[in-house]
Amino acid sequence: MSHKNVIQQIEQHVKNALEGNDASHDWAHIARVRALALRIAQDEQLSEAQVFAVELGALLHDVSDWKYAEPGADTHALACAEVQALLPPLGVDQPTIDRVCEIITRIGFKDELPSASGAAPAVALSLEARVVQDADRLDAIGAIGIARCFTFGGRFGRPLYDPEQPPRPAEALTREAYMQQHSAAEAPANEGGGGGGTVKGKGGAATLNHFHEKLLTLKGRMKTASGRALAEGRHAFMEAYLEQFGREIAGDA
Ligand code: ADP
Ligand code: NI
Repeated sequence: MSHKNVIQQIEQHVKNALEGNDASHDWAHIARVRALALRIAQDEQLSEAQVFAVELGALLHDVSDWKYAEPGADTHALACAEVQALLPPLGVDQPTIDRVCEIITRIGFKDELPSASGAAPAVALSLEARVVQDADRLDAIGAIGIARCFTFGGRFGRPLYDPEQPPRPAEALTREAYMQQHSAAEAPANEGGGGGGTVKGKGGAATLNHFHEKLLTLKGRMKTASGRALAEGRHAFMEAYLEQFGREIAGDA
């Protein structure tokens, strides 16, 4: 099967898999990440084979997301198993499949945080994974990033901000603390969110916190020159937005 046909098949698979997800992780997010990843791949002069893995990885990177999974599920293993079942019948070669597996299991924010257990840091990401990671991160910042963040917080029933508790500093964050804070198991089960996924948790930290623990740190975590350049304007916009947000909370604007 030609690369074009493989991509078309996978597009359909991903559209079906994400149907009913909230708008922070829907098909439109995937489409934006794919477009950004292809743009960065071109800037970074990736080969045709690398671009194919980047496009597949971008399309498949959110099909098995731990934030929406049942507590305790090994979502990395599930995501890889899915790719291993999906791609060989379409004639995709094993090195490309391995690369796609790397992309979808290793680009997440939590995987980059230091572990409280002191586990050794993982080996460096391939260029293909760095390209998709930067693209995913660009979609988490700027105007779209702000919209996605409040959409995600709303899905978990979180307050916009907490007047009693200012946001925590990002430096103190460990992988375990982040996962506990953001997994579906974090709060007592209830009726769940509005359609799709398996989100059960409600409550948890105010959404404003997420800007400080994660989104404002992403500019400094970009791994390609092209991604870093694109992050500048989005980051500046987000900072201006947060300044105004603070002024309005304080009644100063
Ligand atoms: P990652 O795999 O690095 O977590 P994703 O693409 O899966 O990245 O999702 C990232 C985006 O989802 C965040 O940048 C934000 O927009 C939203 N999100 C994730 N966790 C939260 C949270 N706790 N509060 C608000 N938004 C969140
Ligand atoms: Ni994503």
